[in-house]
Amino acid sequence: MLVVEGLVAGYGSSAVLHGVDFEVREGEVVALLGRNGAGKTTTLRAVMGLVKVRGGRVRFRDTELAGRAPFEVAHLGIAYVPDDRRIFPDLTVEENLLLARYASGRHGAWDLDRVYRLFPALRELRHLRGTQLSGGQQKMLAVGRALMSNPDLLLLDEPVEGLAPLVVRQLEQTLREIRQAGVTILLADQNLRFCRRVADRGYVLDKGAVQVGGPMEAIASDERTVRQYLAV
Ligand SMILES: Nc1ncnc2c1ncn2[C@@H]1O[C@H](COP(=O)(O)OP(=O)(O)OP(=O)(O)O)[C@@H](O)[C@H]1O
Ligand SMILES: [Mg+2]
Repeated sequence: MLVVEGLVAGYGSSAVLHGVDFEVREGEVVALLGRNGAGKTTTLRAVMGLVKVRGGRVRFRDTELAGRAPFEVAHLGIAYVPDDRRIFPDLTVEENLLLARYASGRHGAWDLDRVYRLFPALRELRHLRGTQLSGGQQKMLAVGRALMSNPDLLLLDEPVEGLAPLVVRQLEQTLREIRQAGVTILLADQNLRFCRRVADRGYVLDKGAVQVGGPMEAIASDERTVRQYLAV
């Protein structure tokens, strides 16, 4: 579904990604792992067109994404939930959700009712403004908003960072339901335990390239990989 080959990207004069290779197959949950500054966010942003692709290929189905603007990538069926969430603080929960649906221009099975069924808490909170939500509630809203654009591929940056263990568990269950609904997921997270529970396969980034890739279980149980690239 998504094939990234030799991806080179960076900021200003410094290259951050020096040739990143990975793929995501339809229906999978794939994790990008790696320490702080390894390039996980930059990789997601490059796929989305938010960071310029300087070299290599980013193919989504039959379309080359390199050089496309973020709105074009979104129209093709990819949604991105940034780590800082970017909720509109002055809009209510419901307005945040509806705006995403109208802005995307994509139609499909995801609407207000379906998002509220997935996140019952958001239905309760629907008249509150973005600023009145807790961190966990904002993460739910950010994911709900991305689903309102009816994506085929969902990019999630640090979906559980800073969340209480109980909320993390709830989000894991929600990701399973999203996946069962037919949405493919590529997530970036340092939390090995979380990735182990939700992802089928993983790729470990370090020094601007993928150092290890394979089934999530194999990555998580390989002590050498964990010590070298993931342990803090
Ligand atoms: N806007 C920016 N301008 C300049 N350099 C940046 C910018 N954003 C990130 N970088 C640098 O690029 C490198 C990779 O950062 P990136 O955010 O992709 O890593 P990450 O794996 O997502 O890390 P984290 O776990 O902290 O989220 C880091 O060295 C970082 O300092
Ligand atoms: Mg990051």
